[in-house]
Amino acid sequence: MGTVLGCIGCGNMGAAILRGLSGRQGLSLLGYNPTPAKVLALADAGVRAMPDAATLAAQADVVLLGVKPYLVPDVLRAIAPSLTPGKVVVSIASGVSIAAMKAAIAEAGGPECPVVRVMPNTPAMVGKGVYALCFEDPALDVPRRDLVRGLFESIGTVIVLPEARFTAFTAVVGCGPAYVFYFMEAVTEVAVTLGFTRQDATELVKGLFSGSVALAEQSGTHLSVLREQVCSPAGNTIAAMNQLDREAVRGRIMDAVLAAYRRGLEMEK
Ligand SMILES: NC(=O)c1ccc[n+]([C@@H]2O[C@H](COP(=O)([O-])OP(=O)(O)OC[C@H]3O[C@@H](n4cnc5c(N)ncnc54)[C@H](OP(=O)(O)O)[C@@H]3O)[C@@H](O)[C@H]2O)c1
Repeated sequence: MGTVLGCIGCGNMGAAILRGLSGRQGLSLLGYNPTPAKVLALADAGVRAMPDAATLAAQADVVLLGVKPYLVPDVLRAIAPSLTPGKVVVSIASGVSIAAMKAAIAEAGGPECPVVRVMPNTPAMVGKGVYALCFEDPALDVPRRDLVRGLFESIGTVIVLPEARFTAFTAVVGCGPAYVFYFMEAVTEVAVTLGFTRQDATELVKGLFSGSVALAEQSGTHLSVLREQVCSPAGNTIAAMNQLDREAVRGRIMDAVLAAYRRGLEMEK
């Protein structure tokens, strides 16, 4: 018998995950969203529109929460009567703990339904997400843990983490696309300064980044060695590296990520 996955909240992330899972054998997809057009737009991915969250939860084995964090308790209370101990709730909401989600289900008289917390990042929208998964809910059994892990492994890179590590993961990987785009923008601006058209500069920089990532992934060579390979003695690249070191750019990047981490800790209080 197949698995039914239903997503409540089919916005950027929810829709991206549904699209990524589309066509997987033995998996049926359901969606609910207050703006029905968002689910109807997923019909070509095989997503069946549900009239409300509770109906979706009654029919799904895996209930994925794709709503904004502040809505998670309300949605859980609304679907609590439809949950059973045989289902699993999977939340991608930032900063909403497993304990808080289980409390919302219990408050509404719901059963002991296992909850998995997942932290994605925005490249999920193109099937290249990096996902942290937390399997610390004692109510979660091995078959459902493996089911959820397999689903996310099929649409990106997965790391299993204790919930206490989610803030660190978020500072590095959840916020990470912003750091990468910031650096890409800076290189684009300097390319324009050096006379490239903005369109050419943007395309060159995208190729630069995707090519460098492919090299890092496929060569198996350490990042430091890959960088040294570009730095010929007395050449122009080493001159740029020296300038970055004089300006302590590496330390500034570390400080920025640590600021995101500290802010994440504050937001959890
Ligand atoms: N974007 C990121 O970088 C990122 C990274 C990590 C985690 N996340 C998490 O992913 C979740 C979704 O983020 P997103 O960027 O995809 O947001 P989004 O595009 O705003 O999607 C949220 C969706 O929830 C729907 N919704 C609102 N109220 C609802 C309700 N009562 N029941 C069901 N659906 C409802 C909204 O529909 P309407 O438009 O009709 O209101 C919208 O389509 C958030 O919890 C966020 O913390 C996002």
